[in-house]
Amino acid sequence: MTEPAPLPDLWAFLQRAKVAPFGIPTAQHWYHIAAIFHMIDELHVQTFVELGVYYGGLSDLLIRRERTVKDIAYFGFDWDPQYLPISLRYNPAITIGDVFDTVIVEQVSNLIQAGGSPALVFCDDGDKPREMMTYAPILRVGDYLVAHDYPETVTDETLAEFAAEVPYMLEIDPPIYRGLGLPLWRRNT
Ligand SMILES: C[S@@+](CC[C@H](N)C(=O)[O-])C[C@H]1O[C@@H](n2cnc3c(N)ncnc32)[C@H](O)[C@@H]1O
Repeated sequence: MTEPAPLPDLWAFLQRAKVAPFGIPTAQHWYHIAAIFHMIDELHVQTFVELGVYYGGLSDLLIRRERTVKDIAYFGFDWDPQYLPISLRYNPAITIGDVFDTVIVEQVSNLIQAGGSPALVFCDDGDKPREMMTYAPILRVGDYLVAHDYPETVTDETLAEFAAEVPYMLEIDPPIYRGLGLPLWRRNT
């Protein structure tokens, strides 16, 4: 029997493997996709907001889930539609706009208030620390926030500032979710 490759080699494979599950690329690694779908199942997420859609590979997966199982409602936001395939560019689940525009923040706030609970906001735009600070206050108690790209664009300093500014956000299982590059919080009060 062939011995399996050591874990660091398997991890390296997961970091270089192309990720385009239904042919549309996503800026996630496979283990990010696994972690996001694990969160949806474990936390019983009913409303998923993606800030930063890019090519839309993750949106496509979530829209397929919404259509197939109907246990989540997906909403994506991006200010640049140029990379989106036609099927997503004109999909009403995706709004084109600046996520720091107060009109968009209000739109997300309204859809969270009206949507199934809990909601999860996935911060994956160009300024993730600012997104975390902007979107944490519009969450309901029990909703979740996830930031992509720890420790690169979301650094230890970002996390310390976030903890000081919004102490009502409780970080969940930091060894696992920071380890996957996707720190996760639940709004507690
Ligand atoms: C890292 S990509 C998103 C990747 C996507 N979530 C995925 O899983 O494939 C970042 C996206 O954020 C968008 N973006 C950056 N700043 C933005 C802003 N202020 N408002 C809206 N979209 C923004 C960019 O156009 C880009 O498509």
